[in-house]
Amino acid sequence: MSIHPIGVAVPSARGANAPPRALDVERVRADFPILGREVHGQPLIYFDNAATTQKPQAVLDALMHYYSNDNANIHRAVHLLSEQATRAYEEARHKVCRFLGAAAPQEIIFVRGATEGINLVAHSWGRANLHAGDEIILSAMEHHSNIVPWQMLCEQTGAVLRVVPISDDGEFLLDEYEKLLSDRTRLVAVVYVSNSLGTITPVRRIIELAHARGALVLLDGAQAAPHLPMDVQELDCDFFVMSGHKVYGPTGIGVLYGKAPLLERMPPYQGGGDMIKSVTFAKTTYADLPNKFEAGTPHIAGAIGLGAALDYLESIGRERIALHEEMLLRYATEQMSELRGVRIIGNAPHKAAVISFVVDDPPMAALDIGTKLDLEGIAVRTGHHCCQPVMDRFGIPGTTRLSFALYNTTAEIDVFLDVLRGLIADADRKRTGSVSEGPFSVAYAADSFSPASDIEPVYPRAAADSPQAAAQELIEEFELFDDWVDRYQYLLERGEEIPPLPEAFRTEANRVRGCQSTVYLWARKKPGTTDVIEFLADSDAELVRGLIALLERLFSGQRAEDILAFDVEGFFARLGLDQHLTLGRRNGLAAMVQRIRHFAATLTDRKE
Ligand SMILES: Cc1ncc(COP(=O)(O)O)c(C=O)c1O
Repeated sequence: MSIHPIGVAVPSARGANAPPRALDVERVRADFPILGREVHGQPLIYFDNAATTQKPQAVLDALMHYYSNDNANIHRAVHLLSEQATRAYEEARHKVCRFLGAAAPQEIIFVRGATEGINLVAHSWGRANLHAGDEIILSAMEHHSNIVPWQMLCEQTGAVLRVVPISDDGEFLLDEYEKLLSDRTRLVAVVYVSNSLGTITPVRRIIELAHARGALVLLDGAQAAPHLPMDVQELDCDFFVMSGHKVYGPTGIGVLYGKAPLLERMPPYQGGGDMIKSVTFAKTTYADLPNKFEAGTPHIAGAIGLGAALDYLESIGRERIALHEEMLLRYATEQMSELRGVRIIGNAPHKAAVISFVVDDPPMAALDIGTKLDLEGIAVRTGHHCCQPVMDRFGIPGTTRLSFALYNTTAEIDVFLDVLRGLIADADRKRTGSVSEGPFSVAYAADSFSPASDIEPVYPRAAADSPQAAAQELIEEFELFDDWVDRYQYLLERGEEIPPLPEAFRTEANRVRGCQSTVYLWARKKPGTTDVIEFLADSDAELVRGLIALLERLFSGQRAEDILAFDVEGFFARLGLDQHLTLGRRNGLAAMVQRIRHFAATLTDRKE
């Protein structure tokens, strides 16, 4: 037996498919209707729980019941429905209070999510209390939502951010933290469980040390609340934030916990209805806690749904859930550590059920891994996970992340491992195999240059008389495919036809920022012309190479004026790319288009 950081005794490694005795996973799974669906013809395996969790029937029923029976605005009317809605909303607050171990429901403020909770503290407490030269300490593994609000606050007040570094294993470095603490430290805002690495930070010690210096502590509990039993009084944190949708509740609802004396001294965050005692044009007096911080009509159904989610978690037992997830984490970690070429990012000894990894050999972009897993019905998250500083710390553009929940099983992990092994084997074969020839390859000879050679690369020539004509051909080709799985496949194949960009072109100046993968793009004026553009580009992600092939087909060899006049957004919409590419990928595509258009503008009088 080993002791889990939260004090739960955990059985040592089990056999591959032995379910933990403590939790009847099949029964739990039956509570989640969505787990019965298929994705791309395969049973759904949902490993993106750190982004959001699925909802049990009890939560869906609570929402349905509220809207079917009790729907009314709260706190304001004397009629029965309003009383019932108010009671249900306030009951939800009591449930959150118990869930977090707060001293009183007045300390529970309903907000939109962890992000809004942090912004509330930054805006209200921060502006009232911070001055130039004061310091806020964060860790190097914060989610952007626990970085950006503090940066904004620093800009407004002249306060300064200090960042606690992390080790190569992704541990919070307590020694470094102690060195940063000083009499200037006013607030320590740290993540409890890292969403990108899974690290459980030593919050007790962090809080003790901060308090010894007279600083307050805000815990970002967005990932802790779903995984760890929680007692904010015992932890003695000053603020704690969480999101409902990560604990099996609805989106759009979350919680800020604050110690009552602190919240009482803080000015309101937003003004409006329901947060006042009296209003005249001369002066407004504010309501008591918690209403002072809940201006306007709140997400009533969301709070009720969150209450139902917490009831559900309690009915299963949070320690049993922690035990089950610990078993999944250990099993997946052991198995993945044996996969050649796979590197887990984040190996802290105290971790929650999150595994971030990269595949180094053969090199595979996280974007491609995620896209291919999706085609097998496996939902994972890829990219920087809103933790760009973490990716910079490890010198990688992003990871593929598995995050487990109480309904996941070792059998699902086995399916994932099989698929991943297959993807790695495919990539290995491709690496040693030859470049295929497809319809796009007429534009350039696939072997006309190699990264090591000095030979002038062959630029893709015009695929049609104009971007419009090329676009029309592409639309017709895309229409040959019935669904997006086939279109993706088509794009991937086109991407395979792009020759690798010679090393000499992989410069910082040619790097296209804003993409989740590494992308280089080099454009030039076609020799012998005054206004024809040709360009080369490459990426470590196969799908992005497919998009590059699309752009080459549209734009390379075309006149700058024609490129600038072409409605590229309209074209993407006609292909359906606006709906079928994630925001991150659309941003990357937009960044490449912007680079080409910018170059086109330099050949004309137009401004981009
Ligand atoms: C550690 C952490 N903090 C904060 C957030 C922000 O949560 P939300 O988007 O629900 O406000 C997330 C979301 O992924 C998170 O993982």
